[in-house]
Amino acid sequence: MTIQVLNNKGGTKISKYIYGHFSEHLGRCIYEGLYVGKDSEIPNVNGMRTDVVEALKNIDIPVLRWPGGCFADEYHWKDGIGPKENRKKMVNTHWGGVTENNHFGTHEFFELVDQLGCEAYVNGNVGSGTVQEMAEWVEYITMGGVSPMADWRRENGREEPWDMKFFGVGNENWGCGGNMRPEYYADLYRRYQTYVRQYGDKKIYKVAGGANVDDYNWTEVLMKNAHWLMDGLSLHYYVHPQGWEKKGSALEFDEAEWYLTCEKALHMDELITRHGTIMDKYDPEKRVGIIVDEWGTWFSVEPGTNPGFLYQQNTIRDAMVAALTLNVFHKHADRVHMANIAQTVNVLQAMVLTEGEKMIKTPSYYVFELYKNHQDAELIDSYGNETENISYTISKKDNKVTMSITNYSVTDSADLSFSLEKFGKVVEAKFITADEMNAHNDFDHPDTISIEEFKGFKEENGSLSVEAPAMSVINLVISED
Ligand code: AHR
Repeated sequence: MTIQVLNNKGGTKISKYIYGHFSEHLGRCIYEGLYVGKDSEIPNVNGMRTDVVEALKNIDIPVLRWPGGCFADEYHWKDGIGPKENRKKMVNTHWGGVTENNHFGTHEFFELVDQLGCEAYVNGNVGSGTVQEMAEWVEYITMGGVSPMADWRRENGREEPWDMKFFGVGNENWGCGGNMRPEYYADLYRRYQTYVRQYGDKKIYKVAGGANVDDYNWTEVLMKNAHWLMDGLSLHYYVHPQGWEKKGSALEFDEAEWYLTCEKALHMDELITRHGTIMDKYDPEKRVGIIVDEWGTWFSVEPGTNPGFLYQQNTIRDAMVAALTLNVFHKHADRVHMANIAQTVNVLQAMVLTEGEKMIKTPSYYVFELYKNHQDAELIDSYGNETENISYTISKKDNKVTMSITNYSVTDSADLSFSLEKFGKVVEAKFITADEMNAHNDFDHPDTISIEEFKGFKEENGSLSVEAPAMSVINLVISED
């Protein structure tokens, strides 16, 4: 495959928020995964696991979505503030029917966001909450002056308001968030978002609850009836190789299922194109972003684990899904303003897995680490003859060009050639790969997959040749002169 890199002038900016994460009160994502409480023997700062926070900071986590997911439309924020011993308990009906003690609430979330140094994306409750409840949450979080909610926040120990950059008005309101018709939700969106008031000077980016997968009618109705009142419209899409009912195992699959999984990941391209085309009718300037605030692999839970906890292992196949999907987001960076892979710790396509005080990084984590340079970089145009099983992104930031190549063939390496007359030298070359389709890290073998130095490239007469091994994600950083 020969790829002509057109020039070294950057084009569309890839928002760093495409590298966002999602954490729900589900299984062991929040409790155990992110939050262990101050009295835990697991090293923590104000209750937040130090190892997990450090790992997420290392991949430059730009934004964290919370508290759900389906949980968001059952969550009543007032139950999660004040002294922990007085907090009302609730049943987490969606996720295993476990008792939620509300020890992780608004103050704890913003403490976590502070420690991570990222932006907050809070998801409000439309399905079972009132307009007043949502309005008061926004006031509690963002009001700096004197007001009932701001004063209550101060009584609970927080003087200054927090920065809340993103706010979601409901979640999956076509399903777990109320089983609504798009016409009904569009009206509710118009009403609820009115009271997401602006107390500080920083504008809150309002996200309307968007479509499930290919429900294009949902997008049509929402855009037609409310596009001028939203900044973003969400889209949820998960990869289940054997379909929604059966899903498929995270660790046991054959070659056919490997390719099916990769194809399903690439389906994101069609979804964004078609939802985007509808949005173009109402918003040709692409002011309203597609916010893919739930994406990733969703397999059957690991045998012997709670079916409601959605705990799954993560292999080199997940790394392919992460890389392929991020490349699709890059391609549509003019319309995709944020994405949040589901879910950060111990749930679905997680970045890290924990067991007691142990933590391991997954192959998906390493893709996010390899791809860090693309955050807020500008896309570089290129064209090449299509080659099976190859996907790539080239971007530029701070006088460096980053080229990421994924070869998702199970068996064959690929010879690629890039014309690079206008560029300098490769200054960094790294990759992840594996010999087995289901290679993964576990608590006894935490480093089966990790980032290694990549030596399979040659620079000659303005061209760069790369031999991309089967099942690999490669990242090359090239100086500009
Ligand atoms: O991420 C798991 C669940 O998937 C979320 O709670 C929900 O929004 C989606 O259906």
